[in-house]
Amino acid sequence: MAPEGTETYLPSEDTALLIRALSGWGSGSVLEIGFGSGAVLQSLLTRFSLVVGTDITSPDRARMAKGSAEVVLADRASCFREGTFDLVAFNPPYLPSEAIRDRTVDGGRGGIEVPMSFLDDALRVLKADGRIVVLLSDHGDLRGFVSHCIGLGLSISEAARAALFYESLVVYEIRRR
Ligand SMILES: C[S@@+](CC[C@H](N)C(=O)[O-])C[C@H]1O[C@@H](n2cnc3c(N)ncnc32)[C@H](O)[C@@H]1O
Repeated sequence: MAPEGTETYLPSEDTALLIRALSGWGSGSVLEIGFGSGAVLQSLLTRFSLVVGTDITSPDRARMAKGSAEVVLADRASCFREGTFDLVAFNPPYLPSEAIRDRTVDGGRGGIEVPMSFLDDALRVLKADGRIVVLLSDHGDLRGFVSHCIGLGLSISEAARAALFYESLVVYEIRRR
């Protein structure tokens, strides 16, 4: 049984947008933090030589998501050494929340607390010239996230956007300057 608050996130509009935003990317090694159903990992399989995902979901669900990607039950990228990946992508839990009750969607304060923690670990395992691709929603504090990246000396630009009737989803590309 999955730990409380770690049900599998079913593929949604955000999943589809991240898949689309990554469709031009290929070659080398890619890590997806928070693989959920495995839909994004599946979309990357034919284009990268190494496709790896982490999640805090249950072993059974990880097995279902596997395909021929490598999946690891781990917190963010904690199990990898520094400078491993060419690309790190994530569609993190991003809904503003006072506390983290549902770990598939609750993003903490401003909806960016959890995304910023994913970013920290992504930067650690990213190669010097690697890229991070992250999906967020305008329900969260997008300005706060962008300022955080700039404060870390990173370059951040918008790579894709989708307007839904209840929110806008934004995909950012981040790299070191
Ligand atoms: C919004 S869902 C996205 C799932 C999938 N990538 C998609 O796009 O459909 C966020 C995912 O992050 C996972 N997650 C939350 N906290 C995590 C952590 N500390 N380490 C790894 N994965 C985590 C959740 O279990 C969930 O599967």
